[in-house]
Amino acid sequence: MSFIDLNYRPSSSDLVCRFFVEPSPGSSIESACEDIAAESSIGTWTDISTMDSGIGEKLGPHVFEIDKGMVSIAYPSDLFEAENMPCILSSVAGNIFGMKAVENLRLVDVFFPKKLARSFPGPEFGIYGVRGLLGVRKRPLVGTIIKPKLGLPSGRHAEVAYESWVGGCDIVKDDENLTSQRFNPFEERVLKTLEARDRAEEESGEGKVYMPNVSSETGEMLRRAEFVRDHGGRYVMVDIVTVGFSGLQALIKADLGLVIHGHRAMHAAFTRNKKHGISMLVLAKLSRLVGVDQLHIGTGVGKMEGPRQEVLGIRDAIVGSFFDLKPVFPVSSGGLHPGLVPPLVELMGCDVIIQAGGGVHGHPQGTRNGAVAMRQAVDAVMENISLQEYAGSHPELKAALEKWTSS
Ligand code: 3PG
Ligand code: 3PG
Ligand code: MG
Repeated sequence: MSFIDLNYRPSSSDLVCRFFVEPSPGSSIESACEDIAAESSIGTWTDISTMDSGIGEKLGPHVFEIDKGMVSIAYPSDLFEAENMPCILSSVAGNIFGMKAVENLRLVDVFFPKKLARSFPGPEFGIYGVRGLLGVRKRPLVGTIIKPKLGLPSGRHAEVAYESWVGGCDIVKDDENLTSQRFNPFEERVLKTLEARDRAEEESGEGKVYMPNVSSETGEMLRRAEFVRDHGGRYVMVDIVTVGFSGLQALIKADLGLVIHGHRAMHAAFTRNKKHGISMLVLAKLSRLVGVDQLHIGTGVGKMEGPRQEVLGIRDAIVGSFFDLKPVFPVSSGGLHPGLVPPLVELMGCDVIIQAGGGVHGHPQGTRNGAVAMRQAVDAVMENISLQEYAGSHPELKAALEKWTSS
């Protein structure tokens, strides 16, 4: 049975995957494509007596494009179960990465047919829901991650959060590896930090948001998310890769009315090597489908790897039109400080959540002024004034620029 059919045109019900394929030495790209198509759908390494032509006709994939290592495969939707991301990934991003037939293999992009896409809920809030919750219409949102990422006791954590909010942060989040360690138990932290949020809202007259990290074993994660909701929280954050799509789908299906912030820790294990693995673009599209409201997509300018064009492509995929799913709020985080705000906004536009950990708590005058400086940088950009000029009348920004000009 051959799956290559370069005359095939995908039907509106096919799921189409675009791969980069580098065959193993000694094998042709055509034979690698046959192996990939078979293993990701109905076949195996040899002919089998249990296969019949009916199965092949109904469920067989079609390799319809092979061009300089780029390969497109159309899969009939009936291969997949609706609303089951693990099923889809175990097929088109499963065994194939380990096959001897390929030296390198990368799932570069994926295109969903309408019915399968619509079996997933998509974001409940997205950009406009989040802006509505915070009452911030136009400017980029400013967030911080409490640092040190691990080690602060819950009371100190809440105090640092309070300082960040009153300084001007809209959002405070936990770091990706803070969950419920002995030095800072989850429930204690949530209660104290939400209380600090209420004080900060009252003092500043602005809406403030706390995003506790609920990443955990699924049952415990749901319990923690319910705890957040029951105590006045409006958001949770979750490490989408380490909890996996099953955990993520369970959290979203629980329908707790919470905004879901997606941190992507561990993504680079499979997104970074440009010849192998799964692209961040694919991960971002899948996250939007399952219903993440905010997603880390890189900065193009900060401490983490990720070329500008790639970051923009991911941004377009999560905010652009995609059936009638709401746009996901792009988050830029990692190595940011006030001096990087103008190039970041130039790259991403105003619909971005700008998060800085070190860039707030590393300010020479401490957390509160670090947050003040971040907001000043955003205000300067919104008023179209250069940071240097704005810093002339804003000493907190000036101090930040002096510390980080060379970074
Ligand atoms: C961090 O935890 O330092 C960053 O959020 C990682 O950066 P990313 O947003 O590019 O994944
Ligand atoms: C995050 O989780 O987003 C980060 O920890 C970013 O931290 P940084 O601003 O200190 O790099
Ligand atoms: Mg972090």
